[in-house]
Amino acid sequence: MNWNKQNPYLAKITSKKLLSGKQSNKEVFHYEISLGDSGIIYQPGDSLGIFPVNNNTLVRAIINRLQVNPTYIPEGYDFNIHELLEKKFEILTPTNRLIKFVNDNINHNVLNHSLASKNIDILMDFKYGKDVLDFMNLDENLKFDVLHFLTLLKPLQHRAYSITSSNLIFKNSVHITVSTQRWHRKTRDYGGVCSTFLSDICKLGDKVKIFLIPNKLFRLPDDQNKPIIMIGPGTGVAPFLSFIQERKNLKSNGKNWLFFGAQTKKNDFIYEDQILNFVEEKILNNFDTAFSRDQEKKIYVQDKINERSDEFFQWLKNGAIIYVCGDAHKMAKDVEFTIIKLISKELKCDHEKALEYLKMLKKEKRYLLDVY
Ligand SMILES: Cc1cc2nc3c(=O)[nH]c(=O)nc-3n(C[C@H](O)[C@H](O)[C@H](O)COP(=O)(O)OP(=O)(O)OC[C@H]3O[C@@H](n4cnc5c(N)ncnc54)[C@H](O)[C@@H]3O)c2cc1C
Ligand SMILES: NC(=O)c1ccc[n+]([C@@H]2O[C@H](COP(=O)([O-])OP(=O)(O)OC[C@H]3O[C@@H](n4cnc5c(N)ncnc54)[C@H](OP(=O)(O)O)[C@@H]3O)[C@@H](O)[C@H]2O)c1
Repeated sequence: MNWNKQNPYLAKITSKKLLSGKQSNKEVFHYEISLGDSGIIYQPGDSLGIFPVNNNTLVRAIINRLQVNPTYIPEGYDFNIHELLEKKFEILTPTNRLIKFVNDNINHNVLNHSLASKNIDILMDFKYGKDVLDFMNLDENLKFDVLHFLTLLKPLQHRAYSITSSNLIFKNSVHITVSTQRWHRKTRDYGGVCSTFLSDICKLGDKVKIFLIPNKLFRLPDDQNKPIIMIGPGTGVAPFLSFIQERKNLKSNGKNWLFFGAQTKKNDFIYEDQILNFVEEKILNNFDTAFSRDQEKKIYVQDKINERSDEFFQWLKNGAIIYVCGDAHKMAKDVEFTIIKLISKELKCDHEKALEYLKMLKKEKRYLLDVY
């Protein structure tokens, strides 16, 4: 059977472990999912697609706001409104269509001004942390026609998670590392759809809809002798556990270097035992950590790269491939900037020449990103 986004496999959750400590600002879970009789085979670097189900409290609050019976089946649909809002539509993040509809039909100074200004930052500021229900409630007198309301929503999408396991070792399961997204605003608690579906709703033995998202652009080299440098703060470390497990299993001779960053050593050093075992077994030849909040001044992975610039560049001269995984918005950009500066320092060249060197690494597929 060919399992894919259109035809996901119903897979059982066989393990669920909280990785972050009690005093962490984060909530990070390790999930193991059985591949059963699916025949799914994955490679290090691939991701897993998961279809979530929406939070029931939010579904009921929206149905309440729509003033409709949960069993009501809107014309043209095969499911009642409760089922539609639970399984078929994104009901957390508002679409531009929904925001425009609300804006066009209410007098709300800040929203009206935000949209009229055509300044994306002002609108982003206004939107920040607000969900569909918040926009519906900007004016309690605003009426919603159910059929029209559904046209203002997007279909519920899957979420992608980097695979944390090697299929060579875990022949019949796939592992992922998920940071639960939670925030609070005024009187309400909010949660990311899929991360809280996994953490709050799914229990051991429950089944979830999954499919494989191959990523040919984030692969280990075929050459087992090639050195690799992995930069993965936070959940960005996920694919690198798969990489190291795979290289250990293949008895690869290529050297492995991991840069890991987290807020605190005590509460956020996820997979500490597994990683330290790799160091002890000399599978991981170099391992650098940046615990940002364990001292007054923040230390990030790029500071650790800077500290070891000579050796880092030596690895590059020896043909190393650089992999970066995790936050796209800031971390990946700052790391790239640091690497450009490092090249410039080591080659004693200007910024332009260093950029050319990075371009060459990209062309040779030796600078690979999996950022989100
Ligand atoms: C290729 C790829 C690999 C990935 N791998 C991983 C991985 O290994 N581990 C992992 O955890 N994630 C990973 N992600 C991210 C993951 O796919 C989801 O985006 C993430 O789990 C959030 O999804 P969600 O459904 O929980 O939240 P959503 O329902 O999608 O909501 C997220 C939105 O909530 C809002 N939000 C979140 N936090 C706050 C806050 N504090 N304040 C205000 N608003 C907030 C933001 O608008 C944000 O865009 C990956 C993404 C990609 C594309
Ligand atoms: N697309 C999504 O929906 C989604 C899903 C999951 C995560 N994310 C984003 O991805 C990021 C990482 O999330 P995470 O929970 O995996 O990691 P995290 O635990 O938030 O961060 C890991 C480490 O990276 C540090 N860091 C912060 N900014 C950095 C920078 N510019 N350069 C280098 N390191 C930096 C953090 O330090 P400090 O915190 O002390 O500054 C922390 O020590 C978050 O910003 C989150 O918003 C997005």
